[in-house]
Amino acid sequence: MPKVSRWRTKALLVALFLFSALLLIACQKTTSTPQSIFGGKGDHAREIQSLFVPIIWIAGVVFVFVEGLLIFALFRFRAKAGQAKPAQIHGNTKLELVWTIIPILLLAGIAVPTLSQIHKFAQPAGPGALTIKVTAHQWWWQFEYPEEKIVTANELHIPVGRQVNVLLESADVIHSFWVPQLAGKQDVIPTHTNRRVFTALEVGTYLGQCAEFCGLSHANMHLRVMAQTPEDYDAWLKAQQAPAPAPTTELAIQGKELFSRSACIGCHTVESVPAARGKIGPNLSHIGSRTTIAAGMLDNTPESMAKWLKDPAAVKPNMGTMPGYSMPNMNLSDGQINVLVAFLESLK
Ligand code: CUA
Repeated sequence: MPKVSRWRTKALLVALFLFSALLLIACQKTTSTPQSIFGGKGDHAREIQSLFVPIIWIAGVVFVFVEGLLIFALFRFRAKAGQAKPAQIHGNTKLELVWTIIPILLLAGIAVPTLSQIHKFAQPAGPGALTIKVTAHQWWWQFEYPEEKIVTANELHIPVGRQVNVLLESADVIHSFWVPQLAGKQDVIPTHTNRRVFTALEVGTYLGQCAEFCGLSHANMHLRVMAQTPEDYDAWLKAQQAPAPAPTTELAIQGKELFSRSACIGCHTVESVPAARGKIGPNLSHIGSRTTIAAGMLDNTPESMAKWLKDPAAVKPNMGTMPGYSMPNMNLSDGQINVLVAFLESLK
C-alpha cells in the first residue's frame, strides 16, 4: 500500500472511531436523564415512542446500507494510475426505479401509523378530564384550574390515571410546552389556544422545559409535573383552595405588612393580602408549598428565596428594567429580605 493511502485509511478509522464514541455518549440510563423521551410515563409519550422506535430502526438500516454501499464504491472503484477511462453510461432505468419505489413504499408504510397518531392526538379530551389552563410567560408557567378555582405556577399537580386537558396560551411570545416523559411538544402561541391531552400513568415528578426559543432566559423556563395518587392530589387541591395559614412568627407578620405595601403587589396575587392582586407575576398564595422557585431554578428554601429577592437577574438573566420580563431587582435591604422570606415561606 502506498504511504499516502495508508495515512488516509488511518485518518478514516480515527474519524469513524470518534464518530461512534460521540454516538455512544448519547446512550445513558433514563434515570440520569429525566428529560429523556424514552421509557415514557404518560400515554401520549408512550405512543410517540412506539412510532419513533420502529422508524429509527428503519432509518438506521437504510443509513447503514446506503452509506456502506457508498464507502464500498469509494474504495473499490478508485481511479488507478494508468487505468483507461471506464465505460460512460447514461443512467440505469432498472436501478433508478428500484431506489425510487423502495423509499416510496417505506415512507408510505411510515405515514399510515404516523397520520393515524396525529389524528388521535388532535381529539378533544374525554368526559371527566381535568382541564388546566396553562399560560406561558417570559419565563415561567401559570397553571389555572378553572373548575377548582385555583391558580399556581411552575409546578403542575395532576392525578395519575385521569386524563388531563391542558389548554395552552401565551401572555407574550411563542413558547412550547414539553414534558418529555408525559407528552410530546406543543407550541404555545399568543392569541390562540392550543391543546395537549394526556394521562400520567405512574406517580412521579416529571421535568419539563420550554422548547421554543423565547428570549434571554428561555433555557431557564422549567416546569415540573407532579403526578400524584388521586388521594394525594385531592389533599393538595384542598390545601390550595383553603387560605394559607396566617403568619405566626414576628418576622413573618412584619413580612406580610411589608409585602402588602410594597411594589410586589403590583405583579403578584396573594389571596391572604387583599391589596395583592397583580397578575403579571406568579400567584404566590401558596408559594411556601412549592418545592422550587424561580421557574424551577432554585429549591424552595429560605436561603434561595433570599438569593432570588436580592438579585433575581443573577439567578435568571432578564432584560433588567423592561416590564414583564421576569423579576426586577427591588433593591431590598437584607432586613427587608429577611422578613419577606419569612412571610413567603409561611404561605403553605
Ligand atoms: Cu418560553 Cu422558551
